[in-house]
Amino acid sequence: MATATAAVTPDSKVTQYVAKQQKMLINGKWVDAQSGKTFPTYNPATGEVLSRVAEGDKADIDLAVKAARAAFETGPWSTMSASERGKLIWRLADALEKNAEEFAQLESLDNGKPLKVARAGDIPLSIDNFRYFAGWATKIEGNTIPLGLRQPGKFFAYTLREPVGVVGQIIPWNFPLLMAVWKLSPALAAGCTIVLKPAEQTPLTALRLGELITEVGFPDGVVNIVPGYGETAGAALAAHPDVDKVAFTGSTEVGKLIIKASVGNLKKVSLELGGKSPNVVLGDADIDATIPGAAAAIFYNQGQVCSAGSRLFIEKSIFDKVVDGVAQKAESIRVRQGFDPESDMGPLVSEEQMHRVLGYMEEGKKEGAKSLGGGERIGDKGYFVKPSVLVNTNPNMKVVKEEIFGPVVTAIPFSDPNELVTQANDSMYGLAAGIWTRDIKKAHALAAKLRAGTVWINCYNVFDAALPFGGYKQSGWGREMGHEALEHYTEVKSVCAAL
Ligand code: NAI
Ligand code: MG
Repeated sequence: MATATAAVTPDSKVTQYVAKQQKMLINGKWVDAQSGKTFPTYNPATGEVLSRVAEGDKADIDLAVKAARAAFETGPWSTMSASERGKLIWRLADALEKNAEEFAQLESLDNGKPLKVARAGDIPLSIDNFRYFAGWATKIEGNTIPLGLRQPGKFFAYTLREPVGVVGQIIPWNFPLLMAVWKLSPALAAGCTIVLKPAEQTPLTALRLGELITEVGFPDGVVNIVPGYGETAGAALAAHPDVDKVAFTGSTEVGKLIIKASVGNLKKVSLELGGKSPNVVLGDADIDATIPGAAAAIFYNQGQVCSAGSRLFIEKSIFDKVVDGVAQKAESIRVRQGFDPESDMGPLVSEEQMHRVLGYMEEGKKEGAKSLGGGERIGDKGYFVKPSVLVNTNPNMKVVKEEIFGPVVTAIPFSDPNELVTQANDSMYGLAAGIWTRDIKKAHALAAKLRAGTVWINCYNVFDAALPFGGYKQSGWGREMGHEALEHYTEVKSVCAAL
């Protein structure tokens, strides 16, 4: 049932926030778009307009980049101590924590995800990410380097890590606040200034975060937030000649456009793109842990997760048992609007995303895949889709090869472990992988063979601010989180002095 039984309603603070027309944050001021245009953001549980938002385009991006450049070169940020920078980031974490419930509600309204998921996942992860990178601000160091070809003591050489400069950040809609935080926190720790473009489907939590950013005392122009569409605001940011680096999360298709757009001034690029991650169940796995684990690996966040375990490889001896278990889990998932306390799964983010997912289901069935229930729209209001398990697939089917980004898993049997490795790696993507087994030797041997940026063993979708995340192959360039993330936001300067 898509309709709520015992829905709670948003707090008045949230209702008031969405009722106002949202502006953009440029140089510490909340302003309308230069064009005066606005665009709607929808509540995906109802399909109704939630808020209207200033629609940024090239003209606004230009202003925001100018503000970020001035803040980087001459503003108080450029001379602030690292400790002071860290303190501001920590204060932002505190402010977010203080307003956690408001952010959880706003996220659930704009994105559709269950409120309890935003409360337990998105918001605490965001707070922790700020705190982790607040600590890094004072720990960004270079090295002293002995020169190999020179007599010892004749030269003194060392490296410095300096902020890369003005950074453009373009983020998706699946974890709107968390994706903003993953991008902002290492950039701020490194001392960069930022122009952030939230996804057009879900701009609200990033904009509300902008209010906290100004409240806690970040200088004007350090963080600018320009909502708008990808083809206009996003493209202008990616191509801007005065942006030193662009960081993008989204589709592989747009990731390639970002690279093309970066060519003009050879700005640095980091990309976190799609996935079609193999989740491998070996015959000796603990079935009671594996079934809920494999179901959560795909169905978490309505399946709209870049690392989702969407290709479920199961050793033949236990195939039926595991598949039946996962299909039962799918059946038991309560698909309801996010504010319903009983909701396990909300609507997909947009009408477009719903049609994309339903299109894959249709195509898969046409090609001979069989759905063990689910895969169809629920009701005719909002974008609810019933979770599905697909069997009888083959490696050439679109549902096996392409990222669906919805609550659909393809279950594939295997018998030969070597063939399994080939099949699991047979993808243009390499973002993540899962392994379920009781045999620790097998687990690590397989982890070494899988071409993926993250391998989870007897768990899945475990994220931590300290653990680098990113993709092999066409899943991206570079890593987010951990100290690895700082490398994208710093340049290395070698200084060499004759003594
Ligand atoms: P998208 O890649 O079009 O959007 C992501 C972000 O890029 C948004 O902020 C958007 O405004 C911006 N953008 C779009 N076109 C742009 C351009 N030409 N220049 C600069 N920025 C641009 O993703 P979309 O259309 O929302 O979803 C399509 C598919 O992408 C999904 O079905 C899923 O497979 C994948 N995806 C992957 C994500 C991930 O976390 N890796 C997140 C979102 C989508
Ligand atoms: Mg929305």
